[in-house]
Amino acid sequence: MKVRCRTILVTGGSSGIGAAACIMLSEAGMTVYAASRSGRSPRPEDPGIIPICMDVNDPGSVSKAIESIKSQKGSLDAIVCCAGNGIGGAIEDTSPEEARYQFETNFFGTDNCIKAVLPLFRGQWHGRIITVTSVAGFIPIPYQGYYSAVKAALDMYMKALAIECRRFGIQCCSVMPGDVKTGFTSARKRTRGSENPDSPYYVHASRSISKMERDEQGGMPPERIARAIRRQLGRRHMKFTVVPRLDYSAIRVLERLLPTRILLWAVGLIYDK
Ligand SMILES: NC(=O)c1ccc[n+]([C@@H]2O[C@H](COP(=O)([O-])OP(=O)(O)OC[C@H]3O[C@@H](n4cnc5c(N)ncnc54)[C@H](OP(=O)(O)O)[C@@H]3O)[C@@H](O)[C@H]2O)c1
Repeated sequence: MKVRCRTILVTGGSSGIGAAACIMLSEAGMTVYAASRSGRSPRPEDPGIIPICMDVNDPGSVSKAIESIKSQKGSLDAIVCCAGNGIGGAIEDTSPEEARYQFETNFFGTDNCIKAVLPLFRGQWHGRIITVTSVAGFIPIPYQGYYSAVKAALDMYMKALAIECRRFGIQCCSVMPGDVKTGFTSARKRTRGSENPDSPYYVHASRSISKMERDEQGGMPPERIARAIRRQLGRRHMKFTVVPRLDYSAIRVLERLLPTRILLWAVGLIYDK
């Protein structure tokens, strides 16, 4: 693979997709800063991976991390935003606080990181921004409505950003995985209302979330997504959107072709039995 980037920051680098990306990018010869709240290295013996403590929801912590990379390396070629989490529960069973929590790390945390690197990227007239969104950003997933909404929002944000930043030589790409076997499943929080057996959604939501969790745990290894990220970083021009694996790309095509009524019926058959 052609190395177009030398120094990369990966958020959510301690686990799952971010960890796999750190390892793969380091193996490709890049210096990778693996950022997470725990500051854990995905491969402590690897000198190409530098663990860094950073909470994406704390702009002070993000700018401190970027400053430290700048002072050590002088530049940063790319940021890969993987930090994220999921909540499960019917929309009516989700409190405003729980809904905001879902947007906090996935959307505003990513926004904090991107805003922190943009001045640097503009100043050096190059920079690549990759966000890990989700198939849930174009397929509406019941009982994960806020998760679907935040991934759709992030995908649209990335497209707008791509237009705004192209004159500065900055490229943007949204990688949209389907089910991936990571710690994401065990980290998912059920909303308080959805755990109440008296909720009218209780039976369907529980069944549906259990199915999603089984699908995730039987899903792709995170290395599959890391490979897609590495491929984009090696290209002269990154794609704006990447949906790894043929079956998920086919679903994307279908989503665009099918009337919404049919799409929602089909999703309901799978996730709302
Ligand atoms: N797994 C799937 O099926 C799947 C499918 C589609 C999309 N995705 C997306 O892929 C991304 C990565 O998920 P994953 O599956 O790799 O999950 P994961 O294994 O749970 O990893 C999440 C990572 O995010 C970090 N993190 C969480 N909150 C953070 C914060 N406030 N600041 C900094 N780091 C934070 C965690 O580290 P600390 O806890 O140490 O901070 C961890 O490294 C997420 O955006 C997720 O929505 C996942």
